[in-house]
Amino acid sequence: MPDRDIAEVVKIEYQVKDRWSERNSTVVEHIPAGSSILDLGCGDKDILNYVECSDYWGVDLCEYADQIHDFDDELLTWDRKWDIGLLLGVIYYPHHTDRFLSHYKQFADKWIVVINPKTILLKDQWNHCFNEDTMPPVLLRHFSKVSSRIDIPTTIPKLGRSHETKTFQMWVCEV
Ligand SMILES: C[S@@+](CC[C@H](N)C(=O)[O-])C[C@H]1O[C@@H](n2cnc3c(N)ncnc32)[C@H](O)[C@@H]1O
Repeated sequence: MPDRDIAEVVKIEYQVKDRWSERNSTVVEHIPAGSSILDLGCGDKDILNYVECSDYWGVDLCEYADQIHDFDDELLTWDRKWDIGLLLGVIYYPHHTDRFLSHYKQFADKWIVVINPKTILLKDQWNHCFNEDTMPPVLLRHFSKVSSRIDIPTTIPKLGRSHETKTFQMWVCEV
């Protein structure tokens, strides 16, 4: 892993607050009202600007998390589960994807997984790249039901340019 502070990177990235609005609006369409939410790699919990939730638990390396934790350290356990688990732009980070999914899936009934599929090379701090071909087999190893891919075209404001369009990809998975 490069010698950079991930929490600091997150802080900088999240100054552009409406960057993920189309993505987050689509994600919350798949979260029934009143659901409890476990958000792994929650960042600054921006998703809470899009969903009403009084029962939310966010885990991340960064300071905004309810529980600050590195997924590559020991596996966390809780004596409860949530209705919805979120992995929004996070699945590339843990070193051991199968270990991560096989353990954490038990803590929610339904999981929403979102990736940015067009990056071919590993971005800073990513340990894996996934795309529309490589993500489904991984999910199918761990979940009994995986939805068809849901594409989310997203317009992203860029410094020095008017905008960039990228398509996030999402799967809804049942344990
Ligand atoms: C691209 S951001 C996504 C944030 C949030 N899920 C969202 O979509 O708004 C990825 C997040 O994963 C977190 N992360 C990366 N590696 C991690 C690790 N090893 N343990 C815990 N969190 C990690 C980062 O700190 C960052 O907040």
